[in-house]
Amino acid sequence: MKIEEYISSLPPSIISGQEVELLDRPLREIFRFANLKQGDVFYHLGCGTGQSLTIAAKEFGARAIGIDNDIDKISKIEKDSKITARCEDIINSDLSDATVILFWFSDEGVIKKMYEKFSNLKSGCKVITIFDPLPGTIPNKVSFPYLLHQTPFIKAKNLKDQIKAVFETECIDFTTAWEHAERYTNAVGSPDAGNDRFLTILQTMMIWINARNLELTCTKEIPAPVKAYMGILENFFNIEVKHLLE
Ligand SMILES: C[S@@+](CC[C@H](N)C(=O)[O-])C[C@H]1O[C@@H](n2cnc3c(N)ncnc32)[C@H](O)[C@@H]1O
Repeated sequence: MKIEEYISSLPPSIISGQEVELLDRPLREIFRFANLKQGDVFYHLGCGTGQSLTIAAKEFGARAIGIDNDIDKISKIEKDSKITARCEDIINSDLSDATVILFWFSDEGVIKKMYEKFSNLKSGCKVITIFDPLPGTIPNKVSFPYLLHQTPFIKAKNLKDQIKAVFETECIDFTTAWEHAERYTNAVGSPDAGNDRFLTILQTMMIWINARNLELTCTKEIPAPVKAYMGILENFFNIEVKHLLE
């Protein structure tokens, strides 16, 4: 089956990201990457049950504000003098005192609206995204899959320049695709997941194919390991990705 069919067979709550929460280890990595510290006002947009807020406040000394439009999740958060939780749509939220924002959304409509909002925040505000940069923006700092953008944002000349900045390379070969896929799986996967290798293979193929379609791979020909993994996906998992090549 084509990969699109495979993805549409997975639970919608997982694919939409509604029920996906970052674990403590990646949260700490993100806070170290953002240099979160006392005096910062940290916002987690789509904070879920708010574990990030506890870590940001207790371990990094920041004031932590969580926003989520799911009242069941927000009501589970333990508030105190340094932790606030607001049940709101992030699109309507006042973020004017933010110094560090964690924003991990894949809905393009939400991303577009939030980009406008972020652009108007006070200078020096840090917006952290995961895997994808803010639209049309070059991140100021990269520790893939974590990307930091600081206001006023740096405009990318084009998509190619943006991808080169995110992958920190001039062209993407199999090894670059694999390393980045693995870093992403490690950051957002569960620690005891038995299917990490499968996810890494799938993600590697997607990174390499998307790069090839943008003429950003180091070779036009499909490298031997990419061919081999395409074969493994097709023969052992019945998932076909080759048709995505333009
Ligand atoms: C972290 S976000 C999205 C993560 C996901 N991996 C993605 O890439 O889209 C998931 C959380 O955001 C919340 N959420 C979704 N849309 C929202 C909105 N417009 N305003 C506030 N919270 C929202 C959900 O209730 C959920 O707890």
